[in-house]
Amino acid sequence: MNIPVKNLPDDKGDNKCQARFARGWHCLGLSRDYGEEPVSLDYFGSKLVAYRGADWQVHILDAYCPHMGADLSEGEVVEGQLVCPFHHWEWGTDGKCSHIPYAKNIPAKAEIKSWPTLEKNGLLYIWHDPEGNQPIAEQEIPEQAEYYDDEWSDWYMEKIRIHNNNRELIDNMADVGHFGPVHDAQALTFKNIVHKHTFTQVMEGDPEIMENADSMLSRATYFGPAVMTTEMQIQLTGGFLLESRLLVSHVPVSENCFDLRFGLLFKRLDGVSRDLTDYIMMKHAKSTTQGFMDDVHIWHNKIRIDHPILCDGDGPIHILRKWHQQFYVDVADVPTSWDEEKEYVVNIHKQVKPQS
Ligand code: FES
Ligand SMILES: [Fe+2]
Repeated sequence: MNIPVKNLPDDKGDNKCQARFARGWHCLGLSRDYGEEPVSLDYFGSKLVAYRGADWQVHILDAYCPHMGADLSEGEVVEGQLVCPFHHWEWGTDGKCSHIPYAKNIPAKAEIKSWPTLEKNGLLYIWHDPEGNQPIAEQEIPEQAEYYDDEWSDWYMEKIRIHNNNRELIDNMADVGHFGPVHDAQALTFKNIVHKHTFTQVMEGDPEIMENADSMLSRATYFGPAVMTTEMQIQLTGGFLLESRLLVSHVPVSENCFDLRFGLLFKRLDGVSRDLTDYIMMKHAKSTTQGFMDDVHIWHNKIRIDHPILCDGDGPIHILRKWHQQFYVDVADVPTSWDEEKEYVVNIHKQVKPQS
């Protein structure tokens, strides 16, 4: 699909998107997709290479070899060292050159950036910090217990490239007004909770408007700028309780482009055959993915409004954007106001569908 890139408005307000990428953990998909074979990654306005070293951990380095610029993701891993395809300089997982096959001395400057990584919940994460500091311990991605529980399925995962600034995606957390028009799932109750590096949305769906369901409860939390997990419960008409966990995470390619990863875990249904469970889960995965693609279509075609005109039925979008801004400034400049937990409850006005 050829999707035009929109020009962002040239607005100088607090909410303006800046040419800086957020500090924090970003998800790079399923951990099992990374092995000894180097994987090329076009993220954070740069090219990176990911591979498993001799310790079988995933390591990520800047991909362009500082010798004469070859792409290390086209090299190979030999005994844990990443070998450049151009002159066979070898690089350790710490980013230091470990061997040059035709030289006695290794230049002191022969070092490339090594990025902090984390493997957890069956997923690979990378830490990005424009100041170059190590990960903040408090912001580590929490363990997703369901991933390690046999009563739950493995990840169902999709990757979608979106041509817009990644902060468009974040607005969703406070945008209660779009659930009816875009997802046919109007909220009955809706609130946001803001605390430090977390932003949570708690929503109860209106059963009157939901198809094949009697109730829907969801609690979605961003841990840092780019990784969100949702606990979702849907009581289906007819007695089944569908429990799922959603992952919505993004990683910027450039200022106006990002990869979005959308993952699902399902709880297996009691007293139902494996085949029927799989069928119900796949159906649910498809409808959840479709719902998500409805958002994606809007993001592909919208522009960012830095100072939106909001009404009393909208959620706290300005608060959400200010919260997200903390990941785009130096650590020393992060306001202490986020240390105190605050709750924002939206008064829901029932939406009336326009006549078609
Ligand atoms: S460019 Fe990598 S070894 Fe020469
Ligand atoms: Fe949405």
